[in-house]
Amino acid sequence: MQVFSNSAISLDGKLGPVNYDHMRLGTAEDLRRMSWLRSRADAVLVGGRTWRAWSLPLIEDPLVVRQPRSTPMINAVLTRSGAGARSGRFYAHPHTRPVFLAGPDAELEGLPPGTPIHRALHEPTVAWAVGILGAHYGVRNLLVEGGGALIAQLLEADLLHELNVTLCPLVLGGQGGPTLADGAGFDPSSLPRLELLSHDVVGQEIYLRYRVLPRAPGSGATG
Ligand SMILES: NC(=O)c1ccc[n+]([C@@H]2O[C@H](COP(=O)([O-])OP(=O)(O)OC[C@H]3O[C@@H](n4cnc5c(N)ncnc54)[C@H](OP(=O)(O)O)[C@@H]3O)[C@@H](O)[C@H]2O)c1
Repeated sequence: MQVFSNSAISLDGKLGPVNYDHMRLGTAEDLRRMSWLRSRADAVLVGGRTWRAWSLPLIEDPLVVRQPRSTPMINAVLTRSGAGARSGRFYAHPHTRPVFLAGPDAELEGLPPGTPIHRALHEPTVAWAVGILGAHYGVRNLLVEGGGALIAQLLEADLLHELNVTLCPLVLGGQGGPTLADGAGFDPSSLPRLELLSHDVVGQEIYLRYRVLPRAPGSGATG
């Protein structure tokens, strides 16, 4: 499976404000590019906090990508708690299919009938989540839209192949807000390394596309 991420970050590397509310950082051009990236994917995966901040269907804008999908876009949420909306547009889009990938203690009562829930026996790993999406839904191209907790775990597990970043001309500041890769941080002796594939300057934004290089065998991160 090909796993790629897309994030908009401020110049100080943040995904959003310190209160973790949803904040749009990019321009209309950034949204257009997001639609193209979504159109490459069979599924979008987000962490629970990202989903709660923006509980809307994750799919390309048909005004940007006119090619219709042959199968619904899986909208997968990875959660330990299960907290979040039980109704609303997230569940009602004709071309998306919500799926929950949950820890053993997640409380997911009240979801619309028929919403798939996959429960891990222990603390879920991103490898387990990616494996479920491949095995149960035939996902071959997985777009990860964050947040930083999820991206850090994918980098640590060597499961992220491509990282797309829109660098926005903003400084959010503050301590404790979400960044591109959170968690405990990586061991300095085995940091994830990336290769720049393309850079594109449009207006005031820079669109960066990186290939994530395979970790050296035996290298471990603590993130
Ligand atoms: N600028 C951008 O492009 C962009 C993109 C995405 C997000 N954001 C922003 O980033 C912020 C969220 O960042 P974040 O790093 O906190 O987000 P996150 O990775 O979406 O959320 C962390 C949450 O994901 C779930 N999770 C993570 N790892 C898990 C695991 N191994 N097993 C089970 N559940 C797991 C948990 O959800 P539960 O709490 O449900 O248990 C955890 O609290 C929000 O402000 C959002 O708006 C911005």
